[in-house]
Amino acid sequence: MKLRKIFDIGLQYGIEQDPRGKQGVDAQLKRLAESYGELNESDRESFDKEHLTNPYADSGILYGDPDTDIKSMMVGIDIGVSEIVLADRLREKRGSLDLVMTHHPEGRCLAKFHNVMYMQADILHKFGVPINIGEALIEERAKEVERAVMPINHTRTVDSAKLLDIPFMGLHTPADNCVVSFLQNLIEEKSPRVMRDIIKILEEIPEYKHAKDNNTAPKIICGSGNRRVGKVFVDMTGGTEGSKQNYAKLAVSGVGTIIGMHMSKEHIKEAEKNSINVIIAGHISSDNIGLNLILDKITQNADMEIIPCSGFYRVKR
Ligand SMILES: [Fe+2]
Ligand SMILES: [Fe+2]
Repeated sequence: MKLRKIFDIGLQYGIEQDPRGKQGVDAQLKRLAESYGELNESDRESFDKEHLTNPYADSGILYGDPDTDIKSMMVGIDIGVSEIVLADRLREKRGSLDLVMTHHPEGRCLAKFHNVMYMQADILHKFGVPINIGEALIEERAKEVERAVMPINHTRTVDSAKLLDIPFMGLHTPADNCVVSFLQNLIEEKSPRVMRDIIKILEEIPEYKHAKDNNTAPKIICGSGNRRVGKVFVDMTGGTEGSKQNYAKLAVSGVGTIIGMHMSKEHIKEAEKNSINVIIAGHISSDNIGLNLILDKITQNADMEIIPCSGFYRVKR
């Protein structure tokens, strides 16, 4: 399969699973096309035209000819220089390794990844927070994240892939959309009554079982096993952690429980203050579910070898 096709299948599947729905994604792309149309000739040249069709600034082909044939790919949650060198060693030993894929953004996709955070306003809106409030909250937080990312040497890993001539791509939000829709649907279908029921549901999923064996089982961090769950919000996409002021708004909107990948100290404090129950399902394990779902789609009609690395645990469904 061509590199371009692998990326496109992942991207389109990510759009299908986007919690905003196709309408929300189309609205974003339309807005971008309009602002592109309003630019003068010289500004158009520097405009990142890829994102007129790709709504996720944190995902893209980072290095390599899109027409390259790919039969084997090394997939990791985080790909750094060490994994690129590892890929080169494996390629020498095995005689083939055609592509490296990262989940967490690298290169230009890391530099701009705060742009995907704006989708969080629509997600909050879906759970009852007025859109004006969601937009105000995320704007401030996305700027904070942009400032935190600015000093990073973000081309380092891509530069290594170029030096060793290893095709390299990243799928971040498309995969996170997959885990959100998978878990949100599962929870709605099983309709757990108390928090302990959610833990049981999660622990039946192979990626969380694997995490439990490695001492990172899903855990209740706010509330307790006997607490009623109320309305459940699986909060796992939209770039990274949103505003800590979200919790007060979500509590008023009727959210009882949040299932997240990870949560900072300040956010836990806010959730507690607002009596929202929280389950941390696990960071890498949740990312694994998203990646596995997207890889199932990519490999559905293709003979493709997947070589897991860097925290990735392959489960086929
Ligand atoms: Fe993720
Ligand atoms: Fe992650």
